[in-house]
Amino acid sequence: MAEKKIILTGDRPTGRLHLGHYVGSLKRRVELQNSGEYDEIYILIADDQALTDNADNPGKIRENIINVVLDYLSAGLDPAKTTICVQSALPALHALTFYYLNMVTTARLSRNPTVKAEIQMRGFADEGLPAGFFCYPVSQAADITAFDATVVPVGEDQLPMLEQCREIVEKFNRTYGETLVLPKPMIPENAMQRRLPGVDGKAKMSKSLGNCIYLSDDAKTVKKQVNGRMFTDPQHLKIEDPGHIEGNVVFTYLDAFSTEEDFKEFLPDYNDLDEMKAHYMRGGLGDGTCKKFLINVLEKNLGPIRAERARWESNISDVYDIIREGTKKAQEKTSATLARVRDAMRIDYFKDRSIIAEWEEALKAAKQ
Ligand code: TRP
Repeated sequence: MAEKKIILTGDRPTGRLHLGHYVGSLKRRVELQNSGEYDEIYILIADDQALTDNADNPGKIRENIINVVLDYLSAGLDPAKTTICVQSALPALHALTFYYLNMVTTARLSRNPTVKAEIQMRGFADEGLPAGFFCYPVSQAADITAFDATVVPVGEDQLPMLEQCREIVEKFNRTYGETLVLPKPMIPENAMQRRLPGVDGKAKMSKSLGNCIYLSDDAKTVKKQVNGRMFTDPQHLKIEDPGHIEGNVVFTYLDAFSTEEDFKEFLPDYNDLDEMKAHYMRGGLGDGTCKKFLINVLEKNLGPIRAERARWESNISDVYDIIREGTKKAQEKTSATLARVRDAMRIDYFKDRSIIAEWEEALKAAKQ
């Protein structure tokens, strides 16, 4: 039988999703879902992983689970095709994590560059590093392997997790026999999908910097972020001045979102973005016109998402049922993997009574 194609990916539910998440992962997930190429697709709401650096604030995670699910559903993830599930309700993941912790050394964990950067960012270097946080890549390996994932669509920052997961899989299979599926990462194709800057031009959208546009923002807020805060070209003072594209956030966002269709609809002076950029660089195209176009383009993307969100928001009990059902399905899937793992390790004492004969035999042999 040909190997099944299975996708697993996930998010920490610590806040609403923004445009960076949308171009970087959510849009892609919807395309993968609709491609029909995958046998099973799972999205994990990684609330346990979120606790590893929010242990003092479980309320924040509890509250944001619904925000993340609403973002998924309104962006087009379809529960009939994609199983959405909640990590903390999958005890098989906890058990797998415990076994996998023996497949990795603390020295190897210390070298994970993403975790290293996060330790700095969160101040754990001074405060003390929670062991749970230090080990979360192992729990992520459990997430991935429990679903027999072959493909894991993630951002570039997650590549070290995938590398570590693959090492764990290889070590496990070498030690206990072929049991686990070796997953492959799938990262966004182009640079701007990999990292959409904040509206202020800072490298990353971040809640604390207030430089995000959220999928759930209303039209007025989107307009305010673009007109009021979006970084352009500080040397482009008069319309006639030649402008710069590099580092100009309006053009970065247009790169990420605009299509030729959008030009026909909102800015027919140009056939495409290259023509528009050329005019801007020559001089004679004002920031106001560019921003107005961008707002139209963003609204074309966000309008339908916003409408879907409003529809789901008035049906929270349906949303609850979706994740409850998804989690139930995920429980079956992940406990089957755990059973396979325990069989491979021969930790299956109570499956049947066959170990009694084994023990009796061993005791007898010891006496001779
Ligand atoms: N660590 C991922 C992030 O911060 C979230 C995550 C948890 C994940 N479990 C996963 C991603 C499994 C892919 C596969 O974005």
